[in-house]
Amino acid sequence: MAKPRVLLSRAWPARVEACMAEHFEVTANRGDVPLTPAEFRAAFADHDAVLPTVTDRLAQEVFALDAPRTRILANYGVGFSHIDTAAAAARGMVVTNTPDVLSDCTADLAMTLLLMGARRAGEGERELRAGQWNGWRPTHMIGTKVSGATLGIVGFGRIGQAMAARAHFGFGMKILVQNRSPVAPEVLARYGASQVADLDTLLPGCDFVSLHCPGGAANRHLIDARRLDLMRSDAFLINTARGEVVDEQALARALWFGTIGGAGLDVYEREPRISPELMGADNLVLLPHLGSATGATREAMGMRVLDNLLDFFAGRPPRDRVA
Ligand code: DGY
Repeated sequence: MAKPRVLLSRAWPARVEACMAEHFEVTANRGDVPLTPAEFRAAFADHDAVLPTVTDRLAQEVFALDAPRTRILANYGVGFSHIDTAAAAARGMVVTNTPDVLSDCTADLAMTLLLMGARRAGEGERELRAGQWNGWRPTHMIGTKVSGATLGIVGFGRIGQAMAARAHFGFGMKILVQNRSPVAPEVLARYGASQVADLDTLLPGCDFVSLHCPGGAANRHLIDARRLDLMRSDAFLINTARGEVVDEQALARALWFGTIGGAGLDVYEREPRISPELMGADNLVLLPHLGSATGATREAMGMRVLDNLLDFFAGRPPRDRVA
């Protein structure tokens, strides 16, 4: 029997591409640049599965074709706000993602940003590399103490909880949680955490706020000028979730006018473009969407896609179906 035809939208870790090729007829993207909407439409016409990722914008117009051959979009990544799932469903396509396997590494990176911002690690390295360090002095580059401080976590799913574990057990931080639905008391108790009524209640009470909610229209500019104003003037905002969750212009103003202490970003509203206003802010740490970027995790994400495809083409429900 012919193997199902599968298209990978970007270059994947070599080991995973090799495993994919054992089970499927794979079209790889050797150029490793995002496909255009027209290229996606063409792929939908002659592939059984298309495997997109966060850099692909699968908006409604991409699905404007009759009788696509594609029956599953197996996303490489946990976030899927770049896929119009309603349009996919209308064309009879199942959508899956890759949860769990990247929670630890994403939380590690959120903690990296938090520590770098609080302890001015980016600024310090820039000063040193520029040959401007004059040596130790009691008043040099004074940062913010992390141990024992209060961390607000917005979105208490897998990654939010992994962040809570690091902050609570590693740094003795007090954890406040804001989540759409009530979190089970035993889950909160695991991290010594308390859930607050809403985001407006959370923000004024935190030294650090870390975003772990989904992106998409519902959470676009969840952190806007008004909410940035609710934060303490010495507090830090960390975003490893999705760029659209934060109004970047409002954040840039808050950083320049010092109405918050600083921020750490791994995701942006218009990736890979970064607002020029953010670029010059010294109290901001910027990373290029590295949350899941470890060898083990990127392979695990690919293997999770493979599992979803194997289930789907064997007629079993894929474990990570999201739409
Ligand atoms: C995801 O999985 O959604 C990440 O942002 C890509 O690492």
